[in-house]
Amino acid sequence: MIILLLGSGGREHTFAWKMAQSKRCSRLFIAPGNAGTSTCGENVQIDPLDFNAVGRFVLENKVEMVVVGPEEPLVRGIWDYFQENEALKNIPVIGPSKAGAVLEGSKAWSKKFMQRHKIPTAAYREFTAAELESGVEYLRQHPLPIVLKADGLAAGKGVVICEKHKVAEQEFRDMLDGKFGAAGERVVVEEFLTGIEFSVFVLTDGKTYKILPEAKDYKRIGEKDTGPNTGGMGAVSPVPFVDDTMWQKVEERIIAPTVKGLRKEKIVYKGFIFFGLINVGGEPYVIEYNCRMGDPETEVVLPRLKNDLVQLFENCAKGTLGRVRIRADKKIATTIFLVSGGYPDHYEKGKVMSGLDQVKGSLAFHAGTRRQGDEVLTHGGRVLALTSLGKDLKSALRKSRRNAKVVQFDGKYYRRDIGKDLEAL
Ligand code: AMP
Ligand code: GLY
Repeated sequence: MIILLLGSGGREHTFAWKMAQSKRCSRLFIAPGNAGTSTCGENVQIDPLDFNAVGRFVLENKVEMVVVGPEEPLVRGIWDYFQENEALKNIPVIGPSKAGAVLEGSKAWSKKFMQRHKIPTAAYREFTAAELESGVEYLRQHPLPIVLKADGLAAGKGVVICEKHKVAEQEFRDMLDGKFGAAGERVVVEEFLTGIEFSVFVLTDGKTYKILPEAKDYKRIGEKDTGPNTGGMGAVSPVPFVDDTMWQKVEERIIAPTVKGLRKEKIVYKGFIFFGLINVGGEPYVIEYNCRMGDPETEVVLPRLKNDLVQLFENCAKGTLGRVRIRADKKIATTIFLVSGGYPDHYEKGKVMSGLDQVKGSLAFHAGTRRQGDEVLTHGGRVLALTSLGKDLKSALRKSRRNAKVVQFDGKYYRRDIGKDLEAL
């Protein structure tokens, strides 16, 4: 099967690495990819948001399946674009329709969806610019901290947790005044939940679903979870505090009603659902949905997955996931992200990387990298994820940390405490 994978991050290098291992994959293209994906298949310089260019490439190269890594093409409707085109409609796109991707694309919509299907989530209200004054009134009465969420996609920056009413009011006004563009035309004001977060992933064919290994990611830039939020600085799978009782609650109260709810509302969804969850005193709540896999969670989930990923995607497209049994390695996987100095704010690109060929005992998944001649250069904030498997957390972390020292580039930074909180449990 000839496959086209869309995206260019660590998640996509991990997908490409896993799909390239499948006998069912005869040729793999990645658009646009990075220096790592070019070792698994052929990078092609196409923007995943340019649907006409994607469609043309698919037809010219006899692509038989399209796998979508990031959310934006899904939220903008790449699935629907294929469906509406006679020549493309029989080529499966792994990822939800536009109507399904709205689970991630609109926080207000997803909150209403959870209410309709009685899925546990934080209490909230939503406001538009026309309701600014009543919103401000509401904020003034709201207990602290206050969680403000721009409704639409805002490159991971649309959630602000405010410790003071004055700050919340200003932020609320700024959001409704266009701070995040159209994403902030509607703002969700949410109750703050206290607990430990974890991520759960399912692949669904719209009828049934298969649960993949869970993971925990580390979002803050600084050690001990301090400083601004990032795309993710590292991850661990499995998560020790997610025991059988918790799994049962997650499946009964969250996963099953979500898949059933989508089906009941006749929303076409054949792809990943990422549940961002929080454990509040033993009870799971949904913090957010994403319509794709997580990054860096994919870098610890897929190395533990024993199934053939291409076969899983074929089952997903055909609606035969019910036949599949997911098999996961019992080993622990950890990943540590090397990032560019200054990330998540201003950082420089184009730094020469060295030591990549000396990585031993870990998988090096590229994110922001680019090949130039014989050299690999940094090309983004998050640069390289070093994933290790171990019989326990300690041995996996030891390998990821050792290799984090081996790879060098000017300005390199990484968190040395990934997984430490879990070691203490
Ligand atoms: P999101 O962009 O929706 O993933 O939110 C970013 C982060 O904000 C989450 O990972 C949580 O750490 C935090 N967050 C979002 N909503 C809440 C909430 N209701 N209570 C506590 N923390 C939250
Ligand atoms: N690691 C969080 C995300 O992919 O959204």
